[in-house]
Amino acid sequence: MPVPTSTFSTRQRSQFWRRLQIVDCSHGVRLPWRCGARIGVETTGIEDRMRAVMTALSRVEQRLPGRGMFGPAPITIARPNGPAKRWSRGTPAATSTRVRVVSVVHETADAVTLVLQTVDGRPVPYRAGQYLTHCFPIDGSVVKRAYSISEPEGGRLACTVKCIEGGVVSGFVASRIAIGYEYTVLGPSGDFVMPEDPRAPLAFLAAGSGITPVISMIETALHRDTVAPIRLVYAARSEPEAIFASRLAALAIQNPHLSVFMEWSRSRSAGGAPGRLTGEQAANSLSAGAATHVFLCGPTALMDATATALHDRGLPAQQIHRERFYPAPRHTQHLPAGPQTLRFASSNATVSQRPGETILDAGLRHGVRLDFSCTVGGCAACKVRVLDGNVTVDEPNCLTAEERADGFVLACSAYALDSTTIDA
Ligand SMILES: Cc1cc2nc3c(=O)[nH]c(=O)nc-3n(C[C@H](O)[C@H](O)[C@H](O)COP(=O)(O)OP(=O)(O)OC[C@H]3O[C@@H](n4cnc5c(N)ncnc54)[C@H](O)[C@@H]3O)c2cc1C
Ligand code: FES
Repeated sequence: MPVPTSTFSTRQRSQFWRRLQIVDCSHGVRLPWRCGARIGVETTGIEDRMRAVMTALSRVEQRLPGRGMFGPAPITIARPNGPAKRWSRGTPAATSTRVRVVSVVHETADAVTLVLQTVDGRPVPYRAGQYLTHCFPIDGSVVKRAYSISEPEGGRLACTVKCIEGGVVSGFVASRIAIGYEYTVLGPSGDFVMPEDPRAPLAFLAAGSGITPVISMIETALHRDTVAPIRLVYAARSEPEAIFASRLAALAIQNPHLSVFMEWSRSRSAGGAPGRLTGEQAANSLSAGAATHVFLCGPTALMDATATALHDRGLPAQQIHRERFYPAPRHTQHLPAGPQTLRFASSNATVSQRPGETILDAGLRHGVRLDFSCTVGGCAACKVRVLDGNVTVDEPNCLTAEERADGFVLACSAYALDSTTIDA
């Protein structure tokens, strides 16, 4: 295997070596992935390790052309005011924005980043961790999906989409979208955002495409004027499938207070290791102290198990934040075939819901003021209580069991089955 050349100085290389060896000592034979190479997992002798380090260095250099590994500190970016929190009465209606794709970046074999610019040139302020609802005209109808913003606050507007086998929208994005394509986005939406206090220690667990909002938060946190520790545990099936691997490598090298631990589920199984990451293992690796805010984005089972393990270790529930990448709404239930009468009690309006129309669509069409944001059942901004009548809601959605029991539905994903009165 040829050793790649590197232009890093001797001092930079020795600093890099020292940090790798510290990580190595503290983790024994299972050296966590750091700085872009699976050092200690695939390598055996010192020669192999040296080659792996040099490979990692050269990757990082490609990522940061013209900048040293320990180059100037990133500039601090002012935090824009984000939209209101999920449950607030003041949640603003979603802003509809026409955007143009100005770049398509192939992150892995099945993940692309769409870099967007607004057609009217106005910036779209967002909080790191939020998402946009993307509206694509596919086969004669508008299909909406949420995709998280994958750049730090104040950066480019960009979302990263992982292609899912048989996926309507992710397949459309992968095969049909090119530079110059124009479409509409709603939002930004979501309350998967960091605390304002820059001194708060942060820990992140991401799996698969769950890294998308997480990298935005990590880069935003690193731009803050703070040295609070940041820890990332990132699970992917294998290194080539890990989205943003080299970007994370660069960040880990540039920022000593950022620790990145990678878990390859396929490699671990192949090596006879324990297989998929468990909640206990994730909680151990997150190593959250009493003041740490932990952010989880991945499969529901892993998030639930990790949250339970963290809670058992004494971390308060309000410091454990989750983002669920719910599958798109499915119309699994029988929808009304004819028009239905909808009464909005607080607005004192009675409207007619057309067949196939949601309560939100029917209300907005008649000028009723209703809050909404994602429109795909993922944010609960459109939560309303049913006072009377029968309503069916697309599943799955983000309503909790308590909210369902209290008679709440999501107006964006709900259909009146007969004459219905809504508390809105
Ligand atoms: C708040 C939020 C943020 C999101 N951010 C991102 C993001 O940054 N990047 C990203 O790639 N995706 C993200 N998603 C998921 C995304 O919105 C879509 O659900 C996903 O791309 C699948 O849409 P599709 O039309 O391709 O698949 P569909 O045609 O809707 O579904 C095809 C098949 O895939 C399954 N499926 C649907 N969604 C998922 C999923 N997320 N994981 C596994 N299987 C699924 C379905 O059950 C179905 O069997 C986010 C979702 C939410 C709610
Ligand atoms: S608008 Fe987000 S759940 Fe309805």
